[in-house]
Amino acid sequence: MEVDFSVLKRQYAKYQDEYETAALRVLRSGRYILGNELAKFEKDFANYHGVKHCAGVGNGLDALRLAISALGIGPDDEVIVQTNTYIATALAISETGATPVFVEADKFFGIDVDAIEKVITKKTKAIMVVHLYGQPCNMDFIMDIARSNDLHVIEDCAQAHGAKYKGKLVGTFGDAGCFSFYPTKPVGALGDSGAIITNSDELDEKVKMLRNYGSRVKYLHEIIGINSRMDEIQAAVTGVALKHIEAGNDERRTIAEKYLKGIKNPKIKLPEIRQGVEHVYHIFAVLSEERDRLHNFLEENGVHTQIHYPVPCHLAGCYSRLGYEQGKLPVAEKFALQELSLPIYVSMPEDEIEYVVEVINRFN
Ligand SMILES: Cc1ncc(COP(=O)(O)O)c(C=O)c1O
Repeated sequence: MEVDFSVLKRQYAKYQDEYETAALRVLRSGRYILGNELAKFEKDFANYHGVKHCAGVGNGLDALRLAISALGIGPDDEVIVQTNTYIATALAISETGATPVFVEADKFFGIDVDAIEKVITKKTKAIMVVHLYGQPCNMDFIMDIARSNDLHVIEDCAQAHGAKYKGKLVGTFGDAGCFSFYPTKPVGALGDSGAIITNSDELDEKVKMLRNYGSRVKYLHEIIGINSRMDEIQAAVTGVALKHIEAGNDERRTIAEKYLKGIKNPKIKLPEIRQGVEHVYHIFAVLSEERDRLHNFLEENGVHTQIHYPVPCHLAGCYSRLGYEQGKLPVAEKFALQELSLPIYVSMPEDEIEYVVEVINRFN
């Protein structure tokens, strides 16, 4: 049997009629940028989160970098961020001219809260937390540290749409919650798009100017901005995905439960779940000291897995100038050597889930 890591066609087929109706509506409308579809999506996404504002932008990277810029963070400033994340989190900081200060991960793959205060300097302006794989970070502690050190908090929710910490949705704790709607994400577009949610009128206004060439009124450019607008087709189809967010998250949770119950192999460490969180399992991450051999064994048996991520950001070539040495952040470095992501996606067939469990349990 062949088990792909993710099959977007199957997810698409589930809501095909709705997607096609939404896309066709836009195609026939004659309005493709900054129209009613975006306004509706922004309202719906803000309402889903119970926040005042949402700004749709071009992608998740832009959501992060525009939020950082809109908070007034830039050259000479530092932003603390966990090193075990997709490179986009760090690049967003760098793109504003600020410096990422990489810190260690905790055992739940979130930022290690004990590491944060040790690296705060006069230049520190914000903590960037990443709800990696769909599991919320330790938000009570992070918000306490931020309050007592007068720091902003930006949440990278690119993998955690609908995840909750103590009953509260991620993205609603900090100054801004930043989302990617890359097609594989828990809420996926059919192309690139992203969004920033906030309760701050000022931040929302600034982000909406920055995404549209720094203008509020056409051809009046008050600040230096960029072009990063969620287009009307993406807004319409992402709206369809948003309607089914709970069903999708429940479906992945059910698959995760099957993995958690079914995988019984001492060579595989199953993910640990933080107390009080609702994980959405964008990624089901296991650890193994023999990760590469496990990966090859699964490939040979038709099960396709991925590694998220083989190099932690502090050791990425693009950050060599920052001078981090191997061994500096050992927990995250161990994850990079041991992590393996199992197939988990909406409309994954039952027999494929069972087959993954069976093959993993055969690994010795
Ligand atoms: C944690 C994280 N942050 C940021 C991004 C960037 O999102 P995008 O690909 O939409 O730019 C991604 C997704 O790829 C991600 O997984």
